[in-house]
Amino acid sequence: MAQRVAVVTGGMGGIGEAICMKLAAAGHKVVTTYSPGNTRSGEWLAAMKTKGYTFHAYQVDVTDFDACQQAVATIQSEVGPIDILVNNAGITKDASFKKMGKADWDAVMRTNLDSVFNMSKPVCDGMVERGWGRVINVSSVNGQKGAFGQTNYSAAKAGMHGFTKALALEVARKGVTVNTISPGYIATKMVLAVPKEVMDTKILPQIPLGRLGKPEEVGALVAFLCSEDAGYFTGANLAMNGGQHMQ
Ligand code: CAA
Ligand code: NAP
Repeated sequence: MAQRVAVVTGGMGGIGEAICMKLAAAGHKVVTTYSPGNTRSGEWLAAMKTKGYTFHAYQVDVTDFDACQQAVATIQSEVGPIDILVNNAGITKDASFKKMGKADWDAVMRTNLDSVFNMSKPVCDGMVERGWGRVINVSSVNGQKGAFGQTNYSAAKAGMHGFTKALALEVARKGVTVNTISPGYIATKMVLAVPKEVMDTKILPQIPLGRLGKPEEVGALVAFLCSEDAGYFTGANLAMNGGQHMQ
């Protein structure tokens, strides 16, 4: 199996870390990005090292187009041409629509959706030229079904599907696949921010499997989509939500 260079945005977060580990286990050279606000990158890299993982890490604000271009150029010259891009960085700023401010809307759109353009743009041409590539966009069940308190997040995550399908059409002939995954509620700090009462009364009862998903379950799905065996998936959305939303 060829060793690929994989970039995972937000790879030090709950799901991102699991994606990095599964891609490394699949034999890939893994680069994570981290945000300018992250003060634990050195600590994280050291902790990963003790578990047997050697990751490369670059700081970039995914909302900043110029910074993404710069980071991609640096990664390609220091680590190698990027074959796999996992657009995983994301945030929530939940509020009912009547309470949602413009700043909450903008921050979520910029971090979850603009970021996909900002990172894919400098990476995609190289994949096309080399005739192989995988772009995986991490969306959400709430981009499919909507969620109370998430007009911003649901819109951004739904937007990823349109982006995925359009780009998939453009690059399919060149050996590049573009897919979205839509995890349900996964046990990370993003979900732990949901008020316990809301989680227990409004969310968990709607999950037939009766539990939150595990980050490693998402990581395994991403690693599969990056494999040669998944070469016939493109423009697809793979849902993984414990039965919370069946389509
Ligand atoms: N369904 C129906 N009604 C709901 C509701 C829900 N999910 N959540 C809140 N409400 C109701 C309350 O019961 C309350 O009703 P009453 O007025 O009749 O008492 C009313 O809405 C409260 O409205 P407010 O505008 O005052 O809301 P709030 O300030 O109390 O907070 C909220 C609302 C921010 C949405 C809060 O309920 C919340 O954080 N909910 C969780 C949202 C959520 O699921 N986020 C997902 C985060 S994880 C993630 O995003 C990862 C992923 O991809 C899956
Ligand atoms: P998380 O632990 O909070 O991780 C989010 C990551 O995004 C962090 O690592 C953070 O980087 C990065 N990030 C945020 N803003 C950034 C910015 N401006 N520039 C660069 N990086 C930025 O959350 P998670 O649960 O792992 O979520 C990962 C992805 O999965 C998100 O896109 C989320 O929407 C999606 N998702 C989550 C769930 C869930 O239930 N948890 C379900 C479906 C989809 P730093 O750590 O470096 O700050």
